[in-house]
Amino acid sequence: MSRRLAVLISGRGSNLQSIIDAISARRLDATLRVVVSNRAGAAGLDRARAAGVEALHLSPKPHADRDSYDVALAELLRARDIDLVCLAGFMRLLGQPMLQAFRDRILNIHPSLLPSFPGLEAQRQALEYGVAVSGATVHFVTDGLDDGPIVSQAAVPVRADDSVESLASRILSEEHRIYPEAIQLVLDGGWELRGRRFVRQS
Ligand code: GRF
Repeated sequence: MSRRLAVLISGRGSNLQSIIDAISARRLDATLRVVVSNRAGAAGLDRARAAGVEALHLSPKPHADRDSYDVALAELLRARDIDLVCLAGFMRLLGQPMLQAFRDRILNIHPSLLPSFPGLEAQRQALEYGVAVSGATVHFVTDGLDDGPIVSQAAVPVRADDSVESLASRILSEEHRIYPEAIQLVLDGGWELRGRRFVRQS
């Protein structure tokens, strides 16, 4: 049976779109069951609806703290039998209720070669630091910020004339390529976590 994905977003949802497109092109064997945004106006919600996918705004406002929000989120996802949760520009840290409900079943995409440049504006951080190579990382979500075992990475050379925008745009193309591939790898199974290492059995 096709595995059930949830994608969590906060904004434009271009990575969400790459997942939708990979599923339609049968490059990703999964069903996108629900898209959840913590922000009402997220453009990604429209992308989900246009693809016929349930799109929900789960507002943090009625929740006194992060745990209470996470309990509601975990319930929503459990009610839909979600196998794998994919963060795609979701601008909130997940706490224990989500991490325990979906242990080793939450992925994130980050626009740098982790562990370099975690946090916000990773592309600006890389450019200003002066690295020659940056990139994108898909990793499991743990309680550390942009921490957790790495599933896949792609390198993107920094050019002398790069702006934050031009570098971010080339990194984004790689994000769109590696995220659906990494999701498929994880869904395929035949891997284990050895400490921090994502190891595929041959
Ligand atoms: C991406 O750069 C992703 O790596 C980061 O947030 C951005 C989200 O972009 N976590 P989009 O909403 O997928 O277009």
